[in-house]
Amino acid sequence: MTRQSLIIDCDPGVDDAVALMLAFGSDRLETLAISTVAGNAPLDKTTRNARMLRQIAGRDDVPIHAGADRPLRRKRAGAGEFHGEEGLGFLTPFPPSKPIADGHGVDALIRHVLERPEKTVALAVLGPMTNLALALRKESSLAARLGPVAVMGGARSEGGNITPSAEFNVWADPEAADEVLRSGCDIVMFGLDVTHQVRADDARIALIAGKHTPAGDTAAAMMRFSQKVEREIVGWDSPPVHDLCPVAWLARPELFELKPCRIQIEIQSELTRGHTAVEFRVEASTAPHRWATKADADGVFALLAEAVS
Ligand code: BDR
Ligand code: CA
Repeated sequence: MTRQSLIIDCDPGVDDAVALMLAFGSDRLETLAISTVAGNAPLDKTTRNARMLRQIAGRDDVPIHAGADRPLRRKRAGAGEFHGEEGLGFLTPFPPSKPIADGHGVDALIRHVLERPEKTVALAVLGPMTNLALALRKESSLAARLGPVAVMGGARSEGGNITPSAEFNVWADPEAADEVLRSGCDIVMFGLDVTHQVRADDARIALIAGKHTPAGDTAAAMMRFSQKVEREIVGWDSPPVHDLCPVAWLARPELFELKPCRIQIEIQSELTRGHTAVEFRVEASTAPHRWATKADADGVFALLAEAVS
């Protein structure tokens, strides 16, 4: 089996944590590095959380680089109500033994892509797109060199989760999303339309917990925390595990259906800030982006179960 090399840009975050457990354990993926960004929690916490998760998964070989500590132009806004004050729900923070790697996350991202053959390194963006936007500004060849960029962000038919029309990651740094979508990168967006199909119900959480591994126990604890807050705040029984989708797609693309499109980001209006305008009336062969429309949720959880085993 050929493995997909990837860099994960994230803001853990309970669903980022589940996605990391998939990436750390999957024999279909080769995680070259992780960059962190301010998003669900401030940068110092998202970076510490990534290091904790790496240690739990026994993957201290994967370098973690701290990236941007704030959006390009907006004030930083967190999502503590959905992830807990420290960002990882029920998990009590501990000081991870391995430090962060030298170098800013933006530089590490550029370096890893330029070091490898063109188009072979994919990027999974699980938080606000600040780091990628900065990297594209800094290295003009990056868009052409990168492989697929699988992004968790945006909303179309499902409506928003932070405002009526916007999804959190895009809303948090809409200017970064706008720059990224105009960059020429091969972008596949996993918005709420598809992530709301990938929900952690009791049976799926039990499947992961039943592997009785540190990675499985941690992923299950993250999903149980999400279940609690989604019940309290939104009234849903089974929480969507948003960030799992782009990483699952990189491991097993056949689990998702995508549609060619052109995506634009609202950056002028405050009311609709971060709205993703998805245009499907495009020529498929020249469409700049793809939008995920369907997921095989049982297949995604089977993949996660295999990875945490
Ligand atoms: C996205 O926002 C964050 O809170 C989650 O980690 C996910 O990346 C969902 O809108
Ligand atoms: Ca996230």
